[in-house]
Amino acid sequence: MKFSTIAINGGLTINQPVIGASGCLGWGEVLSDLISATALGAFVTPTITVDARIGTVGSRTAETVAGLLYNTGMPNPGISNFVCNVLPFLAQCTSNIVVSVAGGTAQEWGSLGSALDQVLEATALEANLTGLMPAESSTDSASLITFAAKAVGSLRKTFSRSLLIKLPSDHFHTAALCRVVENEGADAIVTGHSLRSAAIRWSGSEPSIRFGEQGGLYSGPAVKPVSLLQAQIAAASTRLPIIAGGGIMTPQDALDYYVAGADVVSLGTLCLVSPARVNTFADDVAELLLTIKGDGLSALCKVGRPPMSG
Ligand SMILES: Cc1cc2nc3c(=O)[nH]c(=O)nc-3n(C[C@H](O)[C@H](O)[C@H](O)COP(=O)(O)O)c2cc1C
Repeated sequence: MKFSTIAINGGLTINQPVIGASGCLGWGEVLSDLISATALGAFVTPTITVDARIGTVGSRTAETVAGLLYNTGMPNPGISNFVCNVLPFLAQCTSNIVVSVAGGTAQEWGSLGSALDQVLEATALEANLTGLMPAESSTDSASLITFAAKAVGSLRKTFSRSLLIKLPSDHFHTAALCRVVENEGADAIVTGHSLRSAAIRWSGSEPSIRFGEQGGLYSGPAVKPVSLLQAQIAAASTRLPIIAGGGIMTPQDALDYYVAGADVVSLGTLCLVSPARVNTFADDVAELLLTIKGDGLSALCKVGRPPMSG
């Protein structure tokens, strides 16, 4: 059993079974010091918005028993600054650069797509649908579907290379969203965004909710069963390639995702807690695959990917 290179429409070719997840590898500085660029099939940047954001002031992360709660506020230099000052440095460290972006309106999505279409160092674009999603889209299905359709439609009109769509982490809308974004011209689906969550912190007898009423985002081992189900639903709902993540800490976790239907998996929290393990991860997966009967990973994916009607 082996991993075959995945070629995504629009030019992104992934030649390792794992990639780095958005926001977990910084702006490339870790690539020279801690993680070898060749250990990962692609590098996904933190999410970039039209305007620069300073992000959350004060502490941004809190460890919980089986995962990491965070609220970064998406700090980023803004698209123009990113293209002029960050992308050239990143391009010296790695070649397969996937730029994560988030807009709030069709116009914003369109200007992010246009800005990146002109710079060939951006091999692909990943739309983080949750990043600046209007509040009503998190509670109203019709609004969510309309928002996703507009985002992907605007990006497709302005960006000509590989377009990856990172879905919100809820299961309820996964199948419908897969169909809508495929229809609007997406080239791949990304599952396993962090889950909205909260933690109560006690200082003596004084409780406080960590990261306030809106909560934070949860990632790491605790989210794996939830994210695995999302990968499985996505794989059954679309023929597009699936890049899946959420709580992958060991090669066995990765294998579970391939069985659920993922073509490639992404490493997030593992990059933060144990960069050394990221360096050997693809080799460790390859070794584990040798113990599995069959011709290739695509055969394994088909176990979790039932034939679709139509
Ligand atoms: C500190 C931190 C920052 C993150 N920043 C982003 C981001 O900017 N954009 C995004 O789409 N996801 C972001 N994520 C979510 C990850 O890309 C990933 O979807 C999530 O952490 C689940 O994977 P994991 O359990 O392997 O960490 C971030 C996660 C962490 C832990």
